[in-house]
Amino acid sequence: MGYLGATHAACMAELGFEVIGLDVDQTKIDSLSRGELPFHEPGLPELLRKHVSNGLLRFTTSYEEVGAWADIHFIGVGTPQTPGDNAADLTYVDAATLSLAKHISKDAFIIGKSTVPVGTARRLKHLVASNKKPQVSIGFAWNPEFLREGFAVKDTLHPDRLVVGVDDERTENVLRSIYAAALENDTPFISTDFETAELVKVAANAFLATKISFINAFSEITETVGGDIRTLADAIGHDVRIGRRFLNAGVGFGGGCLPKDIRALQARVGELGLERSMRFLSEVDAINLRRRDRVVYLAEEMIGDFSGKKIAILGVTFKPDSDDVRDSPALDVAIRLFSSGAEVSVFDPQGNVNAAKRFPRLKYVDSTVQAVEDADLVVLLTEWAEFRNLMPQDIQELVAKRKIIDARNVLDVGIWQGSAWQIAALGHKFDSILVSDAEMTMS
Ligand code: UGA
Repeated sequence: MGYLGATHAACMAELGFEVIGLDVDQTKIDSLSRGELPFHEPGLPELLRKHVSNGLLRFTTSYEEVGAWADIHFIGVGTPQTPGDNAADLTYVDAATLSLAKHISKDAFIIGKSTVPVGTARRLKHLVASNKKPQVSIGFAWNPEFLREGFAVKDTLHPDRLVVGVDDERTENVLRSIYAAALENDTPFISTDFETAELVKVAANAFLATKISFINAFSEITETVGGDIRTLADAIGHDVRIGRRFLNAGVGFGGGCLPKDIRALQARVGELGLERSMRFLSEVDAINLRRRDRVVYLAEEMIGDFSGKKIAILGVTFKPDSDDVRDSPALDVAIRLFSSGAEVSVFDPQGNVNAAKRFPRLKYVDSTVQAVEDADLVVLLTEWAEFRNLMPQDIQELVAKRKIIDARNVLDVGIWQGSAWQIAALGHKFDSILVSDAEMTMS
């Protein structure tokens, strides 16, 4: 009942199925049973409450209960990066599959949704076959998930494609019937083998990560020679073969998926003796991490030694409309500024609580106004709508110095310069956007 599982459970109930959500974490189950979602996802709390109260959706920690009750079991447990290693940690997906196999007491299907290294589904299918009760038949498939945080409900109910790795017709037919509503709307249904299904998922995330690092690598050029990275992205994006989406230059990608998936893919191809084929992904990762260095560098350029300086951080989540701070570039930069001696005041519309759990030593405040009070520098790190729409007059009487870094390339540089702010935006040459008086203070 993490991000993927809870979303899938509520959306399956929305499609009219009776659903039990299982997790080994009793606290999570208690909160979901009360209709309380333990994370932020627009539109999901409403679905959860609706289906908990109409009885279609309930929650348990008992494998025995689901094993005796459900016809179809979806596995959506996490496959995080192994600490100190690039490979995915398969402990949870292995444990969930094994527990299910042992407890299923009527004919049923197991459909894996977690992101896994190629080869896992076939291995788990065998694990199920050798651990199931002899009298039951269990169909098995892998059905990767492509939902984005912030759009999880829409992506689940109206996916842009359905991919299933399956090796028997009966299981494929069950999947077609589960997804009948989407199929009636002509959603592409790609039925393939296990390996292709597993690879489609990591290929998609690797491609997206590469696209972001591609534009960010061009940022490094425009930051040196001048030029406008947004115009460059717009111009190449008009070519439909390239497309404009995922070409937003900035502090780079984070979250619980893209970073760990490109690392897990490299680890897996390494095991297969194919390291060369995915070696470019280590460069994609390196370009991405250099964006964070660039923000710290710009901050130093703008305010010098950090000791005793006040820095306001706008946004700590890995992207807007989420409270997720896993591998968040924004939180990483905030911590680095703090660790280098700055006093750091953070405001995120949804992410303060999770960020404070990971790094309690920053000062977390409840509004932009509180964050920027007396700041020597403002750093916009996550492009929440309220930060995208920020205007100089909203904060300029509050700050100590009119200096801002736009690490997401969403502010209008001209407007800020026009109000006598020193603004540095990723993808722009810093010198070229310096206003003549570098030491602008509050008027
Ligand atoms: C990603 C994929 O987009 C989903 O399709 C996939 O299902 C999911 O991972 C997963 O594997 O579970 P998500 O992690 O929710 O979804 O976030 P994205 O919207 O992909 O954004 C990832 C990161 O890239 C964010 O930090 C975002 O700020 C950054 N980004 C995105 C950019 O820096 N520039 C862009 O142009 C787009």
